[in-house]
Amino acid sequence: MDKLKNKVAVITGGSSGIGLATAKEFIANGAKVIIFGRNKQSLDEATKELGSMSYGIQGDVNNLSDLEQLYAETKSKFGGIDIVFVNVGQGKLAPIAETSEHFFDEMISVNFKGAYFSLQKAITHLNPKASVIITTSWLNEIGFGGSSLLSASKAALRSVVRVASAELAAQEIRVNAVSPGPIGTPFWGKIGLPDDVLQGAAEAITNQTALKRFGLPEEVAKAVLFLASDDASYITGHEIAVDGGINQV
Ligand SMILES: NC(=O)c1ccc[n+]([C@@H]2O[C@H](COP(=O)([O-])OP(=O)(O)OC[C@H]3O[C@@H](n4cnc5c(N)ncnc54)[C@H](OP(=O)(O)O)[C@@H]3O)[C@@H](O)[C@H]2O)c1
Repeated sequence: MDKLKNKVAVITGGSSGIGLATAKEFIANGAKVIIFGRNKQSLDEATKELGSMSYGIQGDVNNLSDLEQLYAETKSKFGGIDIVFVNVGQGKLAPIAETSEHFFDEMISVNFKGAYFSLQKAITHLNPKASVIITTSWLNEIGFGGSSLLSASKAALRSVVRVASAELAAQEIRVNAVSPGPIGTPFWGKIGLPDDVLQGAAEAITNQTALKRFGLPEEVAKAVLFLASDDASYITGHEIAVDGGINQV
């Protein structure tokens, strides 16, 4: 349980769901973990739960100066960064025919631009042999109605993972993606569907998985730990699906 001993890890969106489960996994493996999110109360509750190996920094991925502050403060307090988990994303849905410019900008700003600059602003602070993991989605490979911007933003990130892995290889920095299938987190309560519609969608999605269930955030966290650790020392530019077989079977 010391795969990340003495490592410094930053997790964007570390106060909830997959990010919080990954923070727990990293800390259980010896890392110091800095979590980033907008809501101060959620950050405080998460750092209380995570304990003394955690540290919260408040900010919004839409604001590039918040990202600069995240990495500068992390470096000044804890030294160079060994692991960055670029994990913030939101899952609001709208059919293409009904998508407004405002909705387009909001989704792309959080899911693509926010993730892109979460990576870019980290680069100068990364230690040699660092590991970057970016959260994509099972939706980047299928045509799920209403998800055009969610799916496209995650597909764009899949592409960025390949390019970044090429650009950072000279410093032996590895860049990979984790692609969750349907995972039981607060994410689903924020997508803007009425409860009955959400329930119906959840049942249909469950039936599409080979394992006939939603995944747990802890199951994604195990894959992120693998990619973050030396166990994945020869893996870069890759995407690992943790999806109950939804896109495989
Ligand atoms: N759950 C799933 O089924 C599923 C499936 C495929 C992919 N994913 C992806 O997995 C990632 C994590 O999702 P999750 O299910 O763990 O969601 P979650 O439980 O809703 O957690 C989202 C986290 O991101 C933070 N966040 C949201 N917007 C932010 C912003 N603008 N700036 C900074 N922090 C922000 C939230 O904190 P604040 O609200 O306090 O900012 C929270 O910590 C996302 O990229 C999502 O697209 C999830």
